[in-house]
Amino acid sequence: MLKDRRVLLGVSGGIAAYKAAEITRSLIRENCQVTVVMTRNACRFITPLTFQALTGRPVATELFSGTEAPVPHISLAKWPDLILLVPATADLLARTASGRANDLLAALILAAEVPVLWAPAMNTHMWKNPLTQENIKRLVAAGHAFVQPGTGELACGDIGEGRLADNGEILDAVRKVLITKGKLSGYRILITAGPTREPWDAIRFLSNRSSGRMGYALAMEAGRRGAEVSLVSGPVNLAAPSGVRIVNVNTAREMYDVVMPEFPETDIVIAAAAVADFRPAEICQGKLKKYPAQSAIPLEQNPDILMEMGRRKQKQILVGFAAETHNLVPAGIAKRKAKNLDLIIVNHASGPEDAFGAEAARVLLIDDSDAVRELPRQDKHQTAAIILDQLEELLSAKQAKQ
Ligand code: C5P
Repeated sequence: MLKDRRVLLGVSGGIAAYKAAEITRSLIRENCQVTVVMTRNACRFITPLTFQALTGRPVATELFSGTEAPVPHISLAKWPDLILLVPATADLLARTASGRANDLLAALILAAEVPVLWAPAMNTHMWKNPLTQENIKRLVAAGHAFVQPGTGELACGDIGEGRLADNGEILDAVRKVLITKGKLSGYRILITAGPTREPWDAIRFLSNRSSGRMGYALAMEAGRRGAEVSLVSGPVNLAAPSGVRIVNVNTAREMYDVVMPEFPETDIVIAAAAVADFRPAEICQGKLKKYPAQSAIPLEQNPDILMEMGRRKQKQILVGFAAETHNLVPAGIAKRKAKNLDLIIVNHASGPEDAFGAEAARVLLIDDSDAVRELPRQDKHQTAAIILDQLEELLSAKQAKQ
């Protein structure tokens, strides 16, 4: 479940700093993306080069270095799914608990909106000091999570609580925090993706150019934010996003049969699949011969899965897609209303902006007050993140009303 998760690993200056290299290795082995930020004192215990070599990414240390992004604490704060502090010193805890931003690491923790997980390590008296414990209480009250330090012989010779927790414990805590503290944790999201294939004979079918990329990007992003994701996918050439339950289907009717029973228990549905509107009325036995020549394929209407969900909608937030060649806004508004959707995303389906099968898309978002938001042409993962930001806002607005 850690695959593709982004972890910003903050290292502060304690003897256990060398153990942060082990954690980095373990996270990379789990296919996490790891960026390391170090305090100046951490660099006295272990060099940035070690982490740069392990992660393949630059290690940031300074708030004002001139070589990194102009406002590194903000760009770094926006990047991860989780901030993990290993080892966390009494000083970093104290600075964060009092809202300080006097170095890069403290500033980005203050600026970040993602979960923060602390793995403290320090001398046992420093750990037990009521001031440290008071700081921890403040951070817990602010939603931060902690891996308790272990008990044993400490580097300074004292024996007691204060040893950095084991690698395995820290990794378990990372998994738990990602599941329970993401902005969409506790929500069930059902996503349809890809084309459907409607068989005509044993080897031929009707389908379309959908690559499934938009739906898969949405599933990955929703999973990253802690949602329980069901991805119902037509045939595509994409790897399943990690931590997502995937059900593979071929036809529109199969998709309907999987989606409808899940619908009542779902909080958000995102219908990104390009479902075939029609299917051959009959599936011919075996492979049709070249002769006699066929002049037509009799077709039947497929169920409109999203329309049906719109009819049955109760608490759910429903999101649809439309691919249009002309008059994108009026066509999108009409479709949103017809299917009883909370949000519709309109794709360009022709010309240079054609989104079908592409890695990038330029889309319009139209909400239930017909407000239109135009996004620039960008990678579908970026588009997915913006769509989910808007859905998070919608969820908060709904909760505020209740
Ligand atoms: O009506 P149109 O096909 O343009 O609507 C597109 C939206 O409806 C998409 O969100 C698509 O996933 C969904 N849809 C569906 N079942 C169909 C056709 C479209 O769920 N049979």
